[in-house]
Amino acid sequence: MRVALGLLAAAPASALAAGQAATLDARLGAIEHDPAALQSLVQAGRNQTDTFCVYCHGAGGNSVNPEIPDLAEQNPAYLLAQMRQFANGQRKDEYVGVMQKLARTFTPREEVTMALYFSSVPLTRHPAAIASLALRGAPIFAQHCVACHGGGMGRGEYPRIAGQQPEYVVRTLTNFRKDAASRPSAVMSSATTGLKDADIQALAAYVANLPVTPQSYFALYPHPHFPGDN
Ligand code: HEC
Ligand code: HEC
Repeated sequence: MRVALGLLAAAPASALAAGQAATLDARLGAIEHDPAALQSLVQAGRNQTDTFCVYCHGAGGNSVNPEIPDLAEQNPAYLLAQMRQFANGQRKDEYVGVMQKLARTFTPREEVTMALYFSSVPLTRHPAAIASLALRGAPIFAQHCVACHGGGMGRGEYPRIAGQQPEYVVRTLTNFRKDAASRPSAVMSSATTGLKDADIQALAAYVANLPVTPQSYFALYPHPHFPGDN
């Protein structure tokens, strides 16, 4: 989903007004059919993130630090799920030790607007330099990864890994392989069991080089329920 920020209208009545009884699903469903409300939420998310997240994740979530993930053009349901995992302590950022403290301060509205904003910003890609390494990753990806991540764009809570920062991907896959307590994921732990260090390096180069293709808005919200939503 790409929303042209230049076209943002003045904020209309928000589809995410505080305190309403409707579920987050219903509210997001309403937003899908209300481009003006969507643009207003994206703008709110931009205001929320431009002063702080930018220090680590870069302008618009395009990170310039290879150890810190890009949030730009990431699937919003995944971003939302990760913010909630940081907030509830299931996931811990051991790199700078910040995300778990920060995420506890986000209101539900802030989480949603930030996720919508980052997903709307086109990713600036930084392809891996060593093409032969990326080539070695292709068959490993086809065997172990494509079932869930597709061509790299993921879907819903399955992250887009196409174009992701390679150093971050190496660290993350290594953590999944050792079943690190900082980020438990049964599916990723089993997908990475048996990978050698060289396989992980090759996979990170391969996914960094995968094309990033804009997804339809509906593909981004395939699930009827969002985690933590009642
Ligand atoms: C001081 C640096 C820092 C700041 C500021 C920061 N982050 Fe992060 N963030 C990180 C790091 C480092 C990670 C990766 C942690 C890990 O290795 O698991 C991360 C991960 C994330 C992720 C998960 C991404 C993924 O691909 O799984 C989300 C979502 C996120 N941050 C959102 C935010 C938002 C929203 C803000 C601003 C309100 C913010 N961050 C501010 C450092 C920061
Ligand atoms: C059975 C489904 C499944 C398979 C197979 C799978 N993944 Fe994943 N992957 C996921 C899910 C779900 C997550 C999100 C985990 C979480 O909630 O922390 C994820 C997360 C990731 C992340 C973290 C993204 C980020 O921004 O932090 C990377 C990198 C990744 N997978 C790469 C791979 C690679 C490479 C393979 C093949 C070796 C693979 N995955 C196989 C489902 C899968």
